[in-house]
Amino acid sequence: MTSSTGTSSTGTATPLGHAPGHTSGGRHPDTQHEPHHHGPHHHEADHDDELAALLDLDAEVLGAWLATVSDLVGDLRPDARVVVDLGAGTGTGTLALTARLPHATVVAVDRSPAMLDRLRAAADRAGVGGRVRTLVADLDGAWPATGTADVVWAASSLHHLADPDRVLRDAHDALRPGGLAVVVELDRMPRVVPDDLRDAPGLGSRLAEATSTWNVHPDWGPHLERAGLVLHGVHHLTTEAVDGRYARTWLDRVRARAHELLAPADVAALDRLLTQHPAVLDASPVRADRTVWLAHRPDAARGRASGTPAGTTPTDAPTTPDLTHDGGAR
Ligand SMILES: C[S@@+](CC[C@H](N)C(=O)[O-])C[C@H]1O[C@@H](n2cnc3c(N)ncnc32)[C@H](O)[C@@H]1O
Repeated sequence: MTSSTGTSSTGTATPLGHAPGHTSGGRHPDTQHEPHHHGPHHHEADHDDELAALLDLDAEVLGAWLATVSDLVGDLRPDARVVVDLGAGTGTGTLALTARLPHATVVAVDRSPAMLDRLRAAADRAGVGGRVRTLVADLDGAWPATGTADVVWAASSLHHLADPDRVLRDAHDALRPGGLAVVVELDRMPRVVPDDLRDAPGLGSRLAEATSTWNVHPDWGPHLERAGLVLHGVHHLTTEAVDGRYARTWLDRVRARAHELLAPADVAALDRLLTQHPAVLDASPVRADRTVWLAHRPDAARGRASGTPAGTTPTDAPTTPDLTHDGGAR
């Protein structure tokens, strides 16, 4: 397996290609739910299991961004004591943050007890169980009892919520003055099928198009500002890897809905790819593009500038501290 990560500030080219826009989505293997779908799932437990496995694989294969962003949080808030991870899932963010913030307890909030059981086990394995508190709560209801937070983190979770603006307002209120909010979203579905398959040219693009409405999210910047937070950074991060496990796991998920997504000839081609030519996927790069928004709660008592985390410039325009590094080969 190989992987690498590139970062860029808003609107500029990444080392690995173009900078994605961040107003449209459709992408993550994270969900087969449409946004704002909250009814009970037919096979909720199966769904959680599949999703959990994919989230862990995503962090393993395409997760170099986690170190980049948690390093940034660590630089901005090295003394953070309480971090709230909203929609924590299996704990990919929780673990990255406990690793980078040695004084912090992470309150991992999720409505899925199965996810949080997995998260608890992973935290114990990593030796940080004592600094992780799990909280089963539906964020579509009242804000859970997190206590005052230094950092609120929401990765690939805000778009799931029925009223994300209310949750952002509650996050603002839960943050101490100067506290940091971090929102992360995938820009589009990771692309795992090449376009140059001999018997199905263009399948990769057709699949990307068919899944482009999954997981849609807005530009969270204005939403953070409307919640009373001061936006000071928007970053784009691209991670690439060559790892057939990721492609196959993702396509197994897609395969379950392939008849809704693709023409019959493409469904058949996908089947052939998975059953007869899986090695093709071992050699195909997979790529994930993410956007990260950073904002903070102003410190009214000390003036707005003092609410700006150390290391950033207090200006009206969002600034983009340099995140560039030499890739995330792991
Ligand atoms: C795509 S996963 C992201 C998990 C994790 N943040 C990550 O980046 O790997 C979204 C998570 O949000 C949780 N979630 C969705 N809606 C929620 C809600 N209303 N309240 C609490 N958690 C929710 C799901 O159970 C799931 O674990």
